[in-house]
Amino acid sequence: LDINIELPSVKSETAKRVKIGIYFATWWALNVVFNIYNKKVLNAFPYPWLTSTLSLAAGSLMMLISWASRVAHPPKTDLQFWKSLLPVAVAHTIGHVAATVSMSKVAVSFTHIIKSGEPAFTVLVSRFLLGDTFPMPVYMSLIPIIGGCALAAVTELNFNMIGFMGAMISNVAFVFRNIFSKKGMNGQSVSGMNYYACLSMLSLLLLTPFAIAVEGPQVWAAGWQKAVSQIGPNFVWWVAAQSIFYHLYNQVSYMSLDQISPLTFSVGNTMKRISVIVSSIIIFHTPIQPVNALGAAIAILGTFIYSQAKV
Ligand code: 3PG
Repeated sequence: LDINIELPSVKSETAKRVKIGIYFATWWALNVVFNIYNKKVLNAFPYPWLTSTLSLAAGSLMMLISWASRVAHPPKTDLQFWKSLLPVAVAHTIGHVAATVSMSKVAVSFTHIIKSGEPAFTVLVSRFLLGDTFPMPVYMSLIPIIGGCALAAVTELNFNMIGFMGAMISNVAFVFRNIFSKKGMNGQSVSGMNYYACLSMLSLLLLTPFAIAVEGPQVWAAGWQKAVSQIGPNFVWWVAAQSIFYHLYNQVSYMSLDQISPLTFSVGNTMKRISVIVSSIIIFHTPIQPVNALGAAIAILGTFIYSQAKV
């Protein structure tokens, strides 16, 4: 009888782990492809405000088509839902554009090394703005995270202040986005996939006027011509790839956030950064010094210590 009772729960636990494993692997793979095409596009066409807007536009369009064709069921939303989504969308927009501006100025690996410091920002924001307290080991884990990021930053061969600050702003914004999202998703019947779709649409509305004000159609038209003359007509496919893969990796990450705690999510996110850092260094032949790599390794190790300390 025991066996009969235990088997289904063991089975469903294993099935859940397999499902989350598949989500994580898909999330990381899609993210690596996004990062490569995003940087290829930014190298030829350094207009991050437009490319960030296009990523959100592609996602919004894909989801509207999925809803219209009933590939996905449209969510039932009310005014209250959109109101509670607004702060999430503001944080998502700021975090997204800041990360893209960063990647337009520095190596992809550098942006992601700084972004691996995100757990430190989670602790600082929760402690000083939300009044949460943590056990001592959590605070101690911030030393390698912050120290490692600092070491990587000061030894970065192509350091650039805008690139550094963009990644830091993105860290702060995404901490708020993740805290608000998890709260918002818990109280709603909207699935992770549809929640992210609505988030993209609202962020697109917020970002478009700023993108036009900061860069604008004239700059884009001239830049586009230049990029096409350098790369050829295939350039448009690079832009399409960065936009579509941006949506896909975020959609999968929100589908997993639906199933796991924000803490497991942030550990998964750090492991994702390792694959991005390694693959982008290989693909873009990014020059790195041993001490620079040491800083990155210490920061990432600090994130793992943080996740253990926080359990
Ligand atoms: C973006 O453009 O939003 C960033 O590249 C995403 O950063 P993430 O790796 O934290 O999702």
